Amino acid sequence: MEDKRALVTGGSGFIGSHLVDRLIEYGYNVTVIDDLSYGKIENLNEKATFFKLDIRDYHKLLEVIDDQDIIFHLAANATTRESSLGWIDPVNDYQVNAVGTLNVFRSVVEADCNAKVVYASSAAVYGEPKYLPITENHPINPISPYGVSKVAGEKYATAYSHEYGIETVTLRIFNTYGPRQPRYVMFDFLKKLKENPKLLKILGTGEQIRDYCYIDDTIDAFILADKKIKKGVFNVAGGNPVSIRDLAKVMLEILGLNNTKLEFTQKSWRGDITTLVADISRLKKFGFKPETDLEGGILKLVEYFKETMGPI
Ligand SMILES: NC(=O)c1ccc[n+]([C@@H]2O[C@H](COP(=O)([O-])OP(=O)(O)OC[C@H]3O[C@@H](n4cnc5c(N)ncnc54)[C@H](O)[C@@H]3O)[C@@H](O)[C@H]2O)c1
Repeated sequence: MEDKRALVTGGSGFIGSHLVDRLIEYGYNVTVIDDLSYGKIENLNEKATFFKLDIRDYHKLLEVIDDQDIIFHLAANATTRESSLGWIDPVNDYQVNAVGTLNVFRSVVEADCNAKVVYASSAAVYGEPKYLPITENHPINPISPYGVSKVAGEKYATAYSHEYGIETVTLRIFNTYGPRQPRYVMFDFLKKLKENPKLLKILGTGEQIRDYCYIDDTIDAFILADKKIKKGVFNVAGGNPVSIRDLAKVMLEILGLNNTKLEFTQKSWRGDITTLVADISRLKKFGFKPETDLEGGILKLVEYFKETMGPI
């Protein structure tokens, strides 16, 4: 059991709430910050101490940051599609994702708390890949305001680490999925199929490729970042690259829907990246080993969906 004080920003969101559960299971004393703009209070483990707080508010943040050993910084505007990529309100997204991250580092210094910071970055920092699989040394060329804001967060991490000796680990998360994720492609598919199991309309050509990671495996990466890694930048993905078309087929098979017609809109949203496949060998050296394959993960997601949203 760990006798550590952890702070999780964005701890009532999808990834954050699973992380909080795991930390509490391991004996950490956990504080959560979330403004509940997207996170849900129902997601929150009752053993966590909760502060409803906006990370853009530096002074309030400073009141909460004290003698934590580790800060997992996940709070961000990470909503779907056009908005997730920041096109709808790029200034707001910059303020939350970049300035919010700057505030986390400023308050660590100001509070003199000596905490290590694990920063949830994104594969969106790479932009359209120049080669596959994408290593951490791949050029950083984001093609969306969201990606730019995540790069800014990474750069603040590097600068504060360099100047103030804060240990920082940056996790570039590819696509994570699982229970409590109320959006993104898998949830969208299930929702659409519940409405009409005969037709599944899919955004784009269906040829976009993603490297899905089941939530429990992504949480393993955060735990490794605390326990085994001192600093650095790491890709987090499941090693399960699949096209959206094939993903839809796996899901239909699991649901036992044999006659559903697939329809593709051809055009995707602005700033969408065609192919995201990660090289995860750097993280594997520290013991990262994704355990859940795509079929197993989708099965768990489907069970959760049916429990919470009803039958399909
Ligand atoms: N889910 C993925 O596949 C994925 C991929 C790449 C990167 N990420 C990153 O991982 C992190 C968690 O993502 P998620 O999928 O759990 O998203 P999420 O939206 O479920 O979680 C983000 C949380 O941050 C909170 N938040 C937003 N703005 C805030 C603010 N101003 N102050 C305080 N809290 C605020 C939200 O209420 C939410 O609970 C994000 O930083 C995201 O960019 C996620």
